[in-house]
Formats: sequence, structure tokens, C-alpha cells
Amino acid sequence: MTHKITLIPGDGIGPEVTKATVRILEATGLKFEWETFQAGAEAYEKYHEYIPKELLDSIDRNRVALKGPVTTPVGGGFASINVALRKKFELYANFRPIRNLPHIPTRYPDVDLIILRENTEGLYSGIEHEVVPGVVESLKIITEKASTRIARFAFDYARKNGRKKIHAIHKANIMKMSDGLFIRCSRNVSKEYPEITYGEHIVDNTCMQLVMNPYQYDVLLLENLYGDIISDLCAAFVGGLGFVPGANIGDQHAIFEAVHGSAPDIAGKNMANPTAVLRSSLLMLRHIGEHEAALRIRNALEKVYRDREKLTRDVGGKAGTSEFADHIIEAMQTADIENAAQSSRA
Ligand code: NAI
Repeated sequence: MTHKITLIPGDGIGPEVTKATVRILEATGLKFEWETFQAGAEAYEKYHEYIPKELLDSIDRNRVALKGPVTTPVGGGFASINVALRKKFELYANFRPIRNLPHIPTRYPDVDLIILRENTEGLYSGIEHEVVPGVVESLKIITEKASTRIARFAFDYARKNGRKKIHAIHKANIMKMSDGLFIRCSRNVSKEYPEITYGEHIVDNTCMQLVMNPYQYDVLLLENLYGDIISDLCAAFVGGLGFVPGANIGDQHAIFEAVHGSAPDIAGKNMANPTAVLRSSLLMLRHIGEHEAALRIRNALEKVYRDREKLTRDVGGKAGTSEFADHIIEAMQTADIENAAQSSRA
């Protein structure tokens, strides 16, 4: 069977990290047909559209996309491609698992946290306008429908995956109506899942609590902007932004992408760590039912980190992005040969 996947390499370090990931995925022996499209400034040069219609049609057809980061201009220019794609395909659940890899320097070993972020509304939508010169209004939209939908996703995920606790994170002491609605919806849904402990923490306190003791949390349920900020904070527990994968999931479509951005400071230098995009692609493999291939890559990835010799510069190694991918492929093939030898002896 051939898996048809839409591939958005992105810009900055995007093309380097997605190329490394595609090579590793193909080395599993699975068959992929990649439909590759640009988005953002590069797409505009070619198609005069920031998100070409061909790209949208491809995601709609294939229902699964793997995406590299796309630069969003600050303080002007075009609106975020990421936000637009999430809204267009109603990818309402942003799923970010925070787990350590072996031997990555960290103050917090054995972290195992899930971040579930509402992905379609809230302050992060960037709905802004100038009321009169010098006065700008930025709208935070919270709806009962979207808040209930993400809460249900979080509780279903917890139930299916043996997670014990969910904390809804909010600032309902100040934003009494918007965040108040978000936690009311979470609270209502929680009543249908009595086996899961439900708690509520205020977002600023949550930042402090996370840094003091991340082990007190299991699943964090957040509206859009808090989820964005807390994800980067939690990335620091596991070695930084080069490590955290992500999935944007809707009822019909899913886009898999790392938490990190296009890292212009290291783009084009063969320095980027492809681990986060690779881990995102493992979420994608599981989503399309290829659990065994996901496990083989995960084992090879962990072996390369355990061996410590061939790591990228962000974690003190000397390997370039492409060399790091070579080592993962090598580790996967060595494990295959060892497994074959073991089963022929058995
Ligand atoms: P960033 O994540 O691109 O970079 C922050 C720091 O982390 C930089 O020092 C960078 O070198 C480092 N870093 C990030 N990924 C790394 C990797 N894989 N390996 C090694 N080091 C890595 O965040 P920043 O600078 O805030 O954003 C840059 C651009 O990316 C912006 O235009 C932003 O809008 C965009 N962005 C896009 C995202 C997406 O497409 N999903 C997500 C986040 C940001």
C-alpha cells in the first residue's frame, strides 16, 4: 500500500528537517507518495497566493499532511499560514507530547506530559482591528462549541491512553466571561469521566508550578494562546524546541508539525535538529496505522541518543542534520539485522 501524504517543507530550517525526516520514513520500506507544496512567502512568489489552492486541495484529498515550519512576519505582512490551515480544516486539537529522550541534558528527567491546546479560536486567532488611530482591539473569541469539543477530545484521549489527571488552565479570575466559559465547558465534560481526576489552575500559577514540579501534571488542557506559550516552556524540560513534536487534529484531516519555528538564525547551515519533525512524523505513522514502523524509528532514535556520538549541535554534538538522519537509518538497519539473526537462531 502506498500512503499519499501532502508535504509542506516550509522555509528556514523547514526544508532541511523535513528532507531528513522523509529519508528516514522511506528507509522503513513503507511506500509513500509525497505531494509537495510551498506555503507562505515562497508560495507567493510562484503562485501569488500564500496558501495555493493546489495545496488546500491536496490536504483535502489526502487528509494527512507533514509540515515544516513557515515564517510569519512580525507586526505586519501576511497572516500566519499555520493559523489559516488549522482554521480551514477545523484542526481543533493541537496535541503535543512532552517526553525526554535518553541523555539529553535536562533538569527534569522522566517528564511525561501531554499538552492539548484548542487550536481554532481564542486570542491567538489574531482577529484585530484599529478602532481609531492609536487604538487597536484584539478579539478573544471563546465558544461553547469549541471549548466542549477540545475538552471531550482531551478526556477521550486520557481514557483511551490510561491518563489519570487533566488540568484545565485559565485566567477566569480576570477574563471571567471568556475563560469562565472555557472552564465551565471543561468542568461539564469532566463529569462524564469520573475515573479521571479533574483540576483547574490559573495560567500564571501554572508556569510557576511547572517549573517547580512538572511531575504534578499529566494532561494540560488549554485555550489557544496559553497552549502556545506553555508548550515552549515545557519544551525546555526535554532539551528545547528541537525535541517537541505536534499534531493538529480534526475530525477529517490532520497536519503533523514540530512545535518549533523556522529558526532563521541557523537556516541553511545543516545545523538544525530534525528530531521534533521526526517525532511528529511518528505521530503521523500511528495516525495512519503504521505502528510497527513508528516503533522501529523510535527505537533507532533512542539508540542514537543513548550512544551520544552522533548528535546535532543544539545538544552538544557535531553532526549535521543530514548526518544525524544517516545515523538513525543506520541504527534502524542494524537493529533489523540483529532481529533477523535472533529470529533465525530461535
Ligand atoms: P524558533 O522555534 O524558530 O527558534 C527559537 C530558537 O530555537 C532559535 O534559537 C532556534 O535556532 C532554535 N531552534 C528551533 N528549532 C530548532 C531545531 N530544530 N534545531 C535546533 N535549534 C532549533 O522560534 P522563533 O525564532 O520565535 O520563530 C521564527 C519564525 O518561525 C517566526 O516567523 C515564527 O512565526 C515561525 N514559527 C512557525 C511555526 C510553524 O510553522 N509551526 C511555529 C513557531 C514559529
